[in-house]
Amino acid sequence: MPSPVTVRTSRVEARIAPDSLAVVRRAAELQGRSVSDFLVAAALKDAHQTIADAQLIRLSVEDQHRFANLLLNPPPLVPAMQRALGQKAPDRQRQVTAPFRLELLAANHAREGFSCGVTVLDAYFARQVSQDVRRRASACFVAVEASTGRVAGYYTLAAGGVPLTDLPEALAKRLPRYPSVPVARVGRLAVDQTFQGRKLGGALLADAALRAARSEVAVFALVVDAKDDAAEAFYRHHGFEPYGTQPRQMIVSLRHLAS
Ligand SMILES: CC(C)(COP(=O)(O)OP(=O)(O)OC[C@H]1O[C@@H](n2cnc3c(N)ncnc32)[C@H](O)[C@@H]1OP(=O)(O)O)[C@@H](O)C(=O)NCCC(=O)NCCS
Repeated sequence: MPSPVTVRTSRVEARIAPDSLAVVRRAAELQGRSVSDFLVAAALKDAHQTIADAQLIRLSVEDQHRFANLLLNPPPLVPAMQRALGQKAPDRQRQVTAPFRLELLAANHAREGFSCGVTVLDAYFARQVSQDVRRRASACFVAVEASTGRVAGYYTLAAGGVPLTDLPEALAKRLPRYPSVPVARVGRLAVDQTFQGRKLGGALLADAALRAARSEVAVFALVVDAKDDAAEAFYRHHGFEPYGTQPRQMIVSLRHLAS
């Protein structure tokens, strides 16, 4: 006789107002489930949807046109991005960054004490990033000051996609034939205040763009959700353009980097 399969479960405690509990009970009864079964199923459904929403960027028809156009006819790299990539820009010689190493985030990197001036980005780096890396929700790269080993900056990179379902055939057939156009998303990018203004932010962004462009999985653009006006200005300075209905969704094509 086959031995019974044991499924390991964890306990979750939650507080719920009596009115809400009554509604949940009623709904659970209608589905013939226990309250806890019902709660777990509902939470799981919502969690899957949230993760799918985070990975898929949905656009209006008009925004799909703008997005497609930016992919098909990308403007040339702006001088700031060229500088950040370490190429010789027409107007200025390459600026050499202080000696930093770029590495994948590892257990030996001290994450407490990182301070870029934006609390949510510091808190994310101190408390959540390693969980996201472990779950493969995103990768995290850090710039480490070579002389001290101190983390001077970080960025996260994750896979995403933009479904282009409503484009006219003529435009759609010039684009990659995927259910959605694969993009890489810079979720967060920050430089510790001690190191700001030393070309490190630009270097991190260029590193993200190069990694995405050289990835074995075809990636067509780098996208960001700029958090505020200053971040938006930083990304614009590096050639990102708005493309979506959300105010600060920005994109740069990787076409000029792929080679
Ligand atoms: C935005 C941030 C990453 C910039 O990093 P930095 O190391 O200070 O910037 P750099 O020295 O690499 O600047 C590179 C170029 O961008 C320009 N730049 C920097 N911040 C800028 C801003 N807010 N707006 C416009 N341009 C900006 C610089 O003048 C420089 O231009 P140049 O190459 O023409 O000389 C950093 O200030 C930071 O971490 N801020 C808080 C967190 C944040 O806003 N993150 C971004 C959104 S998630």
